[in-house]
Amino acid sequence: MFVTFEGVEGAGKSTQIALAESWLRSLGHTVLTTRQPGGCGLGLTLRAILLDARNTHLDSTAELFLYLADRAQHVAEVIRPALAQGAVVLCDRYHDSTVAYQGFGRGLDVERLISLGEMATGGLAPDVTVVLDLPVEQGLARARSRNSGAGASQSEGRFEALEMAFHQRVRDGFLTLAAREPHRFAVADATGDPQAVFSRVQRAIGQRL
Ligand code: TMP
Repeated sequence: MFVTFEGVEGAGKSTQIALAESWLRSLGHTVLTTRQPGGCGLGLTLRAILLDARNTHLDSTAELFLYLADRAQHVAEVIRPALAQGAVVLCDRYHDSTVAYQGFGRGLDVERLISLGEMATGGLAPDVTVVLDLPVEQGLARARSRNSGAGASQSEGRFEALEMAFHQRVRDGFLTLAAREPHRFAVADATGDPQAVFSRVQRAIGQRL
């Protein structure tokens, strides 16, 4: 089973993925947790470029193709082999992030991005996509305190520095995608304490196990 987690900055994906991983392992599943960008060797190099706050000159189309290159390699090298061995794959972001950020956020054509996603992934769609949904102000506040704590303001801050309206479009983009494909998506309210959020996530995944 292939499960992806999506959401705006600071939505709590890492915490929820860690909780999901230990829950699924306790049920006896083999679990692979991975992420985009950065889930394979090439992806780590691409992630460093994509998230470097000093790369302010990166063209939107160039940025798009770097995310797609990361995805194509990651699907071929990591995700497909793990699924073929029967693992549950939990992936922190996938192509819906490209549609939300580069499409709804940056303004690239959404329908074209959806077809490019099919090409990059060879048609591999998630069985479940959990959108952790919360107001962008709350998410950005969490992301900023996390980054300043980790001293990551240079390397992880390129998107977090963008204006509120951008992040609002991204959030609305995820909700639009979820409404288009209600069978694949589960939108979980990501406000409140992590255990309460996890019970919503657990329900969404459990229904599809
Ligand atoms: P992360 O901080 O959740 O790992 O995500 C990395 C950043 O990259 C985040 O700001 C969202 C952005 N992103 C895109 O713009 N497009 C994509 O396709 C992906 C996967 C991430």
